[in-house]
Amino acid sequence: MVRPDFQTPPGTRDITEPDAGRVRRLVEVFADEAVTAGFGQIVTPMFEDVGVFVRLGEASDVVSKELYSFKDKGGREIALRPEFTASVCRAFAQHRPLTPWKTWYVGSGFRYDKPQKGRYRQFEQVGAEVVGSHDPDIDTELIALAWRFFRRIGLADFTLVVNSLGDAGDRPRYQAALTEYLEANRSRLSEQAQKTMVVNPLRVLDSKRAGDAAVAAEAPVMSDHLSPEATAAFDRVLAGLDTLGIDYRVEPRLVRGLDYYTRTTFEFVSHSLDAAQNALGGGGRYDGLVEALGGPPEPGVGFALGVDRTLLACDEEGVFTPADDTVAVWVVCTTDDLAGLEAVEELRSSGISAGRAYDGRSMKAQMKAANRSGAEIAVIIGSQEVEAGTVAVRTLRDGDRSGDQQQQVDRRDLVKKVRSLLP
Ligand code: HAM
Repeated sequence: MVRPDFQTPPGTRDITEPDAGRVRRLVEVFADEAVTAGFGQIVTPMFEDVGVFVRLGEASDVVSKELYSFKDKGGREIALRPEFTASVCRAFAQHRPLTPWKTWYVGSGFRYDKPQKGRYRQFEQVGAEVVGSHDPDIDTELIALAWRFFRRIGLADFTLVVNSLGDAGDRPRYQAALTEYLEANRSRLSEQAQKTMVVNPLRVLDSKRAGDAAVAAEAPVMSDHLSPEATAAFDRVLAGLDTLGIDYRVEPRLVRGLDYYTRTTFEFVSHSLDAAQNALGGGGRYDGLVEALGGPPEPGVGFALGVDRTLLACDEEGVFTPADDTVAVWVVCTTDDLAGLEAVEELRSSGISAGRAYDGRSMKAQMKAANRSGAEIAVIIGSQEVEAGTVAVRTLRDGDRSGDQQQQVDRRDLVKKVRSLLP
């Protein structure tokens, strides 16, 4: 095959059937769970003023290295969204809806990441955010929403890990203890970690490099430095998870890749994916983010799930398999008139999915196409049928349920007859 002039850019893919249909169904399940939990949908722009995302934290790779940013023709500094939380907080600050504001979303995020399986430069997320309440039960309800969604699509081989990063006031105390420890172990850290340590020592705990991870494993933990209020809030979340029968593991070194988190943080980790991209999703509280974006000092909490990775995990577990989106009826028409067009549109108008062949193919070629299409029924129209005001109806799959290979039916009874034959 001749190589075409253009291909998808690195880290992006064309998603075609049956995968595209599977993505659609996954989003439908998520939307259903979100609506059931009282969330309304939000659609934000795919690009924002770069400042919206810079507040996510300059110590995170997402902002420092992976942002798709550019100047538009009006000279504005713009960035493609690397995630949705900042956009949701920007929208809250802009519109000031009633609190608690519960909103869910779906769409693409963009990160100039190193492309590999499960890690793309354009990826799909579904997520939910609640702005305007400190109540830790909301943290639990959000985790429960994600949990129900994963269970409903059939995933089982994953672990929920949770942690508390404390309040803004707890951070300096912990950071001082952590920095002291990291300084003492500086020689064992990678060059990158030594740099990150200066901007945000917490992020060193998130490093995947083996040497750094060894240092992180023995580092002081946040839970020893939480304020009584943050401790009580975290205990309430854990008690909520226990009450709902949701299994979890407290992971004191879970920091997550974005800098805005306070108090509860969590991640869903798949056991069937490679360690470098085994996070199916995650989230937590971001009590200072709305204010950092120029809004009122309202707290927030939410999560996002990676659709691409979730489907890879589904592949590994053999669940949520792609469905074959085939049409129910195939119209075979060998006359020159518009009888085929008319029949196919009449079926579709009656809510029956229907396909047909084009370009005046022979009867044999059209029947072949009908069999290949996976349709249940073929409707055959030749000159004889047109003359007699009939159509021939034939079942294609699972033997012949009608007991009669092919039946001549009055053209006016087409929809009725097809309906009676469909399962
Ligand atoms: P995040 O952990 O950066 O959090 O992303 C959430 C999920 O999106 C990841 O666990 C992963 O499944 C998927 N994901 C992220 N980057 C990629 C990529 N390059 N390729 C494929 N999948 C990817 C957030 O985005 C936060 N906004 C979550 C949140 C909401 N926190 C509070 N509210």
